[in-house]
Amino acid sequence: MQRKNKSINILGIETSCDETAAAVVADGRIVKSSVIASQTRLHEKYGGVVPEIASRAHIEKIYPVIKEAMAQADVAKDDIDAIGVANQPGLTIALVVGVTAAKTLSFAWEKPLIAINHLHAHVQSAMLSEKNPQLPAVALIVSGGHTCLYDYHSPLEPELLGHTIDDAAGEAFDKVATILKLPYPGGPSIEKAAEKGNPKAIKFPRSMLGRDSLDFSFSGIKTAVLYYCHGQNMKGENKVDSMTPRQIADIAASFQAAVIDVLVKKTQRAAKKIGARTVLLGGGVAANNQLRTTLQQMCDLAVPPKKLLVAPKQYCTDNAVMVASLAYYKFKAGLFADLTLEPKATG
Ligand code: KG4
Ligand code: ZN
Repeated sequence: MQRKNKSINILGIETSCDETAAAVVADGRIVKSSVIASQTRLHEKYGGVVPEIASRAHIEKIYPVIKEAMAQADVAKDDIDAIGVANQPGLTIALVVGVTAAKTLSFAWEKPLIAINHLHAHVQSAMLSEKNPQLPAVALIVSGGHTCLYDYHSPLEPELLGHTIDDAAGEAFDKVATILKLPYPGGPSIEKAAEKGNPKAIKFPRSMLGRDSLDFSFSGIKTAVLYYCHGQNMKGENKVDSMTPRQIADIAASFQAAVIDVLVKKTQRAAKKIGARTVLLGGGVAANNQLRTTLQQMCDLAVPPKKLLVAPKQYCTDNAVMVASLAYYKFKAGLFADLTLEPKATG
């Protein structure tokens, strides 16, 4: 039962990809704890997330991570008002671990269960610092698995405007880092290498997919980098091993500039279409400083200027704070799931 005048504590659980995470958040924005067990080291040697390994690691970590989140928040089961869990989209054999844990706790503790869309939670992470952003807003979510633009009218119903038709932006960063033999995960490695490079050194393609399109395509630029390094149609020699750090930095900077150019222009296009007053940015790639700065410039130069709200860096990549935060709004709206809840790959 809801306690009068007391804050609402939500336990959030996140296992959609390669982070096992749990958090306790009060009233949708007061972070009482955030625990993340990252699997980066397990997937490093494969250059990407291996679903079977991810699932096994989630099974191993889910209980200690939840226990730690409860301990750090200094709460017991009776202090928890509901359990929010990301059940879509993601790797189903990863999601099922979090969903099963959440359903078990919901049953055992007799607490309501709330189903959370992982991408909508990424949107929510951009609003942790601002309770009431001016609406409508356009949200750009850029992660390892997704690249989406949303028309955002309320936390509960973001409407999809466009998405990637092939690779996600983060996936392109990861694949290009592999081509350049930079460490995994690729996003931070490319950003670091790009700091010393010239973004105008190489003119990589910018796929805009037609004048009005709000969809994205990043497979062309990834192939362009591949051919640049290995010769047209992979018929040349592998030049990466003989490149100087400066040449690698120029490729990283030019690639990063091309991806950011497309992301920012498409967001500008979407903002114009819906008359957005605010721009929201979230997802793993939102940790990229160059993207944050370029999007800020676009918002400042717009007529009228738009307010940019960006997820705090620690909540750009996958975490459970964003899940618990969004679950609070669903709790207030009475949008509960039941024990038949299942994971879904799409969403
Ligand atoms: O949101 P996230 O943790 O996982 C998914 O939901 O997919 O995003 C992970 C992605 C990876 O592709 C990673 O390379 C990228 O975010 N990333 C970055 C940066 N930090 C992480 N991309 C560009 N620049 C960064 N600084
Ligand atoms: Zn994510």
